[in-house]
Formats: sequence, structure tokens, C-alpha cells
Amino acid sequence: MERIRIVGGAPLNGTIPISGAKNATLPLMIASLLTDETLVLENVPHLADVALLKRILGNHGVDCMIQGKRAGQNGATAETIELSAGEIVDTFAPYELVSKMRASFWVIGPLLARMGEARVSLPGGCAIGTRPVDLFIMALRELGAEIDIDGGYVVARAPKGLRGGRIVFPKVTVGATHVAMMAAVLARGETVIENAAREPEVVDLADCLIKMGARISGAGTATIRVTGVDRLTGARHAVMPDRIETGTYAFAVAMAGGDVLLEGASSATLERPLELLAEVGAEVTTTNEGIRVRRNGSGLHAVDVSTEPFPGFPTDLQAQLMALVCHAKGSSHIRETIFENRFMHVQELARLGADIHLDGQMATVNGVARLKGAEVMATDLRASMSLVIAGLAAEGETIVNRVYHLDRGFERIEQKLGDCGATVERLAG
Ligand code: UD1
Repeated sequence: MERIRIVGGAPLNGTIPISGAKNATLPLMIASLLTDETLVLENVPHLADVALLKRILGNHGVDCMIQGKRAGQNGATAETIELSAGEIVDTFAPYELVSKMRASFWVIGPLLARMGEARVSLPGGCAIGTRPVDLFIMALRELGAEIDIDGGYVVARAPKGLRGGRIVFPKVTVGATHVAMMAAVLARGETVIENAAREPEVVDLADCLIKMGARISGAGTATIRVTGVDRLTGARHAVMPDRIETGTYAFAVAMAGGDVLLEGASSATLERPLELLAEVGAEVTTTNEGIRVRRNGSGLHAVDVSTEPFPGFPTDLQAQLMALVCHAKGSSHIRETIFENRFMHVQELARLGADIHLDGQMATVNGVARLKGAEVMATDLRASMSLVIAGLAAEGETIVNRVYHLDRGFERIEQKLGDCGATVERLAG
């Protein structure tokens, strides 16, 4: 198994290009199931999760072609992909595939909308909490689907097609909002989704669906209205920049010190994290080219924060923020409100000398003056990145094991950080 070796202590200086957002790419790819025409997606990041979803969609009959690379691009950078689901050959999504990537459960929405049936495995356990699917089922039932759970599978049917309905989510969920929208676009009549997720990735999906001929308004607010149409067409859409990758590298610069341009990043999707970064002690400026983050010598300050649905502080940056404040002066308090078991990085950060106390969903981080390199284990995607951030400021060598977690969601980290002066290398297993 591959590992990442980091030698801490060097500041980061230079430019880091920001990739297309993983969490937008996945639902956008799944939206290709809604039409028999070709959906062209630009700025698709080169990630293990994207490769896996190509395979999963292939099983349903989606043909995926990669367009010619631009000069200077190699196999590890953004690509333009063409997805064509001329014919859906299978509405069955087996456990072996869905259990590898939770987001692949979302195919249930478009399959049901286009084919009137879907049999999709329950996603199964996940390292960051129970992550149930009850709200997906509730939403699809509101649109007229008949749903049974049978042998670990969600069996959904709408023989006469879906019809519009009123979906009121008791809790904000990104995944179920994506699915409700994708199902409603081909339903008869109007659907209203209340307490919808306002995440920028929901807006990106809605923008793409609108280009495909869908009638959607209100994406980005808590009430989304969808008027069903008979069919969708092909379209061309560029995936939004990854706000989680942006925030992660912004925190890395604050941790290591230095001056870095996060090229192509959008500050509009990151207001709360950037505000916090300034509170912690980094200088943040937005330019035409992206976001510039600087910290030169000044110490870091403690902060108090809770994760919240957008526009609050994202749970997907919680672990990275925790790494940063391990080095701050004073005590920080970080409350996780979205997932109930998303603190597995705490014990690994402790191996580097961090002083963190957990009490239920609240972590108290007492800043320490010095972190020391050690061997640590990546436990999930975002947690892995917190270990890299801590390693950048730790004395000596940090080895991060189980790097496959990182490769699911971060493109070329050793190159992006290495180009800015960090010693980060990949070691063969
Ligand atoms: C998505 C993101 C993930 C991010 C999360 C929160 C992708 C691929 N994943 O995950 O990176 O951390 O949003 O921003 O985009 N819930 C239920 N019942 C349901 C569905 C969800 O109770 O049927 C709960 C979940 O357990 C969780 C909360 O709702 O507590 C939010 O879940 P959701 O926003 O759906 O997260 P994901 O789509 O899994």
C-alpha cells in the first residue's frame, strides 16, 4: 500500500491550481443517466472516485469517452469527458459497487425517473457515521414511487412515471437534495423541495440540469421548485472549482507559513472558512486569478466553530481546521454537528503531539508549540488531509499510511505541495 512521506518545516510559496470539485462531479456524472443524448463535462478531476463512478455508470449502459487532452496535460489532470446513456441496459446497482462509494446510491433518482424502476443496494456502513438513506426514500415516495427494502436492496418502482410532489426535508441533506432534483426533472407537474441543501454543488447540478432542458428555480436557496419536462437533452458543463480542496490548501498555507495563490478558486463558496482563516491569523485576499493566502511569522490564534450546512463551516473541512489549530495559541473548540463519528483523525493527530480532548461531538484543542513527525494512518478522505497539514508543520518526518483515501478526493497532492517547496513524496507500498 502506498504511503506519503512529509518532511515538515518548509513554508509554502507559489501557485496551487484548484481542481474541479469531486462533490459536484459525482452528481453531474450521474445526471447523464437522465438523457439519451451526450453530456459533456469539462474540468473533471482525475480521482479514484471519478474512475469508480465511470465503471458503475458503465454497468447501467453509460458510455464514457475522454476527449483529447490539451497541451501540457498528462494523465493526472483535469479531463473533459463525454457521457452517453443512449440506452439504459440495467437498472440494478449491486452491493459490490455501491458499498465502495456511497454517492453511487444516487443513481436511484435518475434511473427511476427515466426507466420507472431501480434496484439499488443500500450503501452499508461508512467510516464517518451511520449515514442512513431514509430521507432519499421519503423524497422518492413523495414523487409517487413505490419503495420496498428487500435483501439489502432498495427496490423502487413508478410504472406510470413519477409525478410532482411536495418534499419537506426534516434535516438538510446534500445527497437527498441531489436525488430529489434529478427525479423531479422528469416527473409530471411541479415539485417543491423545502429545506433543500443550499450547497454550491447543488447549484452546479441545477445549472447543468437547466442546460439539459430542466425547469428548476431556487437552487442555492432553501426552496427549490422543479417543473417536470418530458425529456432532457445533451449539454456541455464545466465542473465548479473544488471549495474543499481550496479550503484545505488555504489551511495548509496558514499552517506551514508562506504565500500561495490558489489558482481558479472561488471565494464566494468559501466565505465562512476564509473568515475563520483570517481569525486564526492568515491574510486572505481574493484576486482575479483566485485566492491568495499568506502568513509570515505571526502566530496562530485559537477559534471556536461548529460545522453546519452551507453557508456554515463545512464538515468536509473540520479535520483540516483541527490540524491547523493544533498549533494555535490557546484552546479551540470544534463541534461536529453533521456526522456523529467524524473525529477519527484525533488519535492520529495525537501521535504527532497534538493535545485534543473529545467530549461527545465537541473537540477541545489545546494548542501546542511543537508537533513532532510520526507514522500515522489515514482513516477517511478528509481526515487524511489533516495529517498531511499537521505533517507540514511537524518537526522531522511524518509518514501517512493508507493513502488510497487521499486519492479518492485529492488530485496530485505531492505535486501541488511539492511545487510550492514542501517535501512531500509518495512511497511505494
Ligand atoms: C455529502 C458530501 C460529503 C459531505 C456531506 C455534508 C458528496 C459525495 N458527499 O454527503 O462530502 O460531508 O454532504 O456536506 O457530495 N441523512 C439522513 N438520512 C438520509 C440522508 C442523510 O439522516 O437519508 C443525514 C446524514 O446522516 C447526515 C446529514 O443528513 O447526518 C447530511 O447528509 P448528506 O448531506 O446527505 O451527506 P452526504 O450526501 O452523505
